[in-house]
Amino acid sequence: AAFDTDILGSEPTKRMMMNGPVDTLFDKTSSKLVGKPVTRVDGSLKVSGQAPYSAEFYKDNRVYGVLAGATISNGKVTNIDTESVADIPGVIKVVTDAKHFLRNSQQGGKMKAPTQGAIDIAYHGQPIAIVVGETFEAATEGAKALVVSYEDETDEAALDFKQELKNAHEVNEKEGSDKNSEHGDPEKGLQQSAVTLDRVYTTPSQSNSPMEPHSSLAYWEGDKLTIYTSNQMVAFSQKQIADALEIDNDNVNVISRYVGGGFGSKLGISPESIAAAIAAKELDRPVLVMMTRPQVMESTVRRSNTRQRIALGCDENGVLNTIIHDTISSNLPNESFFEPAGLSTHYLYRGENRRVNYEQVDMNWTLSGSMRAPGEAVGQIALECAMDELACQLGMDPIELRRRNEPEEDPSQQIPFSTRQLLACLEQGSKAFGWEEKHSSEPASYLEGDWWIGTGMAVASRGNQLMPSEARATLQLDPSKTLGVKAVIESDMTDIGTGSYTVFSQVAADLLGLPIDHIDMQLGDSRFPSSPGSGGSFGAASAGSSIYLACAELREQIAKRVGLHADTIQLGEGQVSKTGEHQAGVAERAVEAGKKALDALVDKVEDATEKVGLSVSMKGSNNIDPEQYDFSDSATYPLADIISQLEDKKLSAKGQIAPGKNGKSHRQACYGANFAEVAVHRVTGEVRVKNMTGAFTAGRILNHNLATSQCYGGMVFGIGAALMEEVIHDKRDGRLCNHDLAEYHLPVNADVPQLEVILVEEDDPYTNPMHIKGIGETAISGAAAAIANAIYNAVGVRIYDFPITLDKLI
Ligand code: MOS
Repeated sequence: AAFDTDILGSEPTKRMMMNGPVDTLFDKTSSKLVGKPVTRVDGSLKVSGQAPYSAEFYKDNRVYGVLAGATISNGKVTNIDTESVADIPGVIKVVTDAKHFLRNSQQGGKMKAPTQGAIDIAYHGQPIAIVVGETFEAATEGAKALVVSYEDETDEAALDFKQELKNAHEVNEKEGSDKNSEHGDPEKGLQQSAVTLDRVYTTPSQSNSPMEPHSSLAYWEGDKLTIYTSNQMVAFSQKQIADALEIDNDNVNVISRYVGGGFGSKLGISPESIAAAIAAKELDRPVLVMMTRPQVMESTVRRSNTRQRIALGCDENGVLNTIIHDTISSNLPNESFFEPAGLSTHYLYRGENRRVNYEQVDMNWTLSGSMRAPGEAVGQIALECAMDELACQLGMDPIELRRRNEPEEDPSQQIPFSTRQLLACLEQGSKAFGWEEKHSSEPASYLEGDWWIGTGMAVASRGNQLMPSEARATLQLDPSKTLGVKAVIESDMTDIGTGSYTVFSQVAADLLGLPIDHIDMQLGDSRFPSSPGSGGSFGAASAGSSIYLACAELREQIAKRVGLHADTIQLGEGQVSKTGEHQAGVAERAVEAGKKALDALVDKVEDATEKVGLSVSMKGSNNIDPEQYDFSDSATYPLADIISQLEDKKLSAKGQIAPGKNGKSHRQACYGANFAEVAVHRVTGEVRVKNMTGAFTAGRILNHNLATSQCYGGMVFGIGAALMEEVIHDKRDGRLCNHDLAEYHLPVNADVPQLEVILVEEDDPYTNPMHIKGIGETAISGAAAAIANAIYNAVGVRIYDFPITLDKLI
């Protein structure tokens, strides 16, 4: 790791690149909030309605915009009759700026503008206009009544996936998040294996549908656009908006203070942002556009359906030599995103012959994009159901089969794992679940009344990533705080319900030695330093590390101001104290020697410039006079005193994290094991999940409550994927049949039994200076497979087509 303090400019900056293992300061702090189950710092604001979501911001003179969607799924809009709604009371204007209405390609940050004047329609519900009204009701009525003419080519639309399979084509590997890969000779490996299994699994499209629908409030002040919107990645979205409107990034301010979930559907902007911005410009009034649930489901994104072939080959002992994972997903024509279902197949198990292959089918369905654990969530359903079936074929316990196929290193890239504790997850999870006692190797062996009872398990894994991020930390006086000082942290990072406000407050509080209520966490505004936002489970690690580094830099600045070295101070309860003598290491002595040489050079330059009559001072810009502090070994100094002696009455620092070599030199991932017990009704085929236990690793855990909640959420998604969730497009006209939460079935409280989560202890020095991994998408990965395998164990029937609804079981 390279620590580099930049003392030029007003804000000292600590930068870190992850090259090799690093130490973490958490081992040295006195207050230990990190790791504790601290309750949400924004919890009371949220439950008392004081945490404003995007649609709740008010701007004087505000009007409402409602999107009108296409009623064909393929063709062109030839005319929008704006006069058709002119007489509706309260309707102000229909905005039809064809240049900007269109499919927003979520991935890659592109907005797709039509090539000609007419709007190309690729799916039913695609936004084509925005009707603005004095009230939401008026605008809604206008959007419904709007008369639109089409060149309708729906009869040529691709609406039947099975039929379109013959047109499957290569994916755009350059823009995808995974690549095709092949090692050894998979087909030959399969032929020569003693035991083989070859199956096809299908999973349906799923809807992200976060609790808070997508919405945007847009207004202009001259050239400057402000958008309050519900978004996961503020900096990325700011650029998307600027690109779409062809204006400077600096003229767009995106604000997402609180976000009611995203699950990937808010990674980029959705159509209502641009519509609100254009309408606000045309009317010169603030415009609020709130999507309805059907609009969210029709015109944001879906997780693609998949068709996955898994072929496994092993010896009589169950040791795998071959894994084939051929996957096909779907998207609108000319889209580059594909579902990277084989992401974890590259490294989860042993096997010298290995193939991951992707193909894509163009469909006139809703745009597909990222949904929670894009890739692993559904890819591991296929892989883990296949592993279960293979274990049955071998007459082997499914946990034992995983044990025998635990690789020593990443079998695709031949690189070490940073940390991998899958075996510990299997062990602790199976023990807590009671696998030995509950699981019968004979399927259909327990009937309790009218219910067949069975147990199943599946492995979970989700890759860990670090993204570039920066943040600012400022210590300033605040007489309202008991210690007279507070730390303001600024980052455009979002909190999508995961707990960013809380975990970052814990990090800052520990590093700065302040109580948690002395941390003023400012997130979700594009005017703050840029983070990658919330996505890909990289948010806490990336934004968190930049906050960590900004606070670490503040520690050094404080130490300097009292004439000490940072590793000889302790910060606690708003006080600085001395803890020992600093011992310079080799690296530091080398830096000191370099500085001396530089100073000597500067002396010469100054001498030389003086001789020609110029006076230049290049040294000493960062000299601090520690004289005012008498630092005997036992003395402590209040931070507030130190800050009040500074000219600005505040001390500011920035932190920047950048991914270095570790992402390539070490396979980094979270691991876990899900266990499920189910009951299947012997007459109706109804499935009830009786209980689930999951054991997971994610490096150090910042907050046990929040990490556990993420795992609960992932397991609930597993219940949905196994038993009910399915987006259905009508094969005749492409209309989304189940576009609300009444018809798109999600697990509700009555479907979710007692869940147990075990966080297996881990510490990963390769990931980031906090040693954490992104836990958000771990538990969902393949969670449905544990339930599917339990269903097989209960009734002796394997269903390969998800969700496993009762009609498929009887
Ligand atoms: Mo996640 S699907 O990267 O929000």
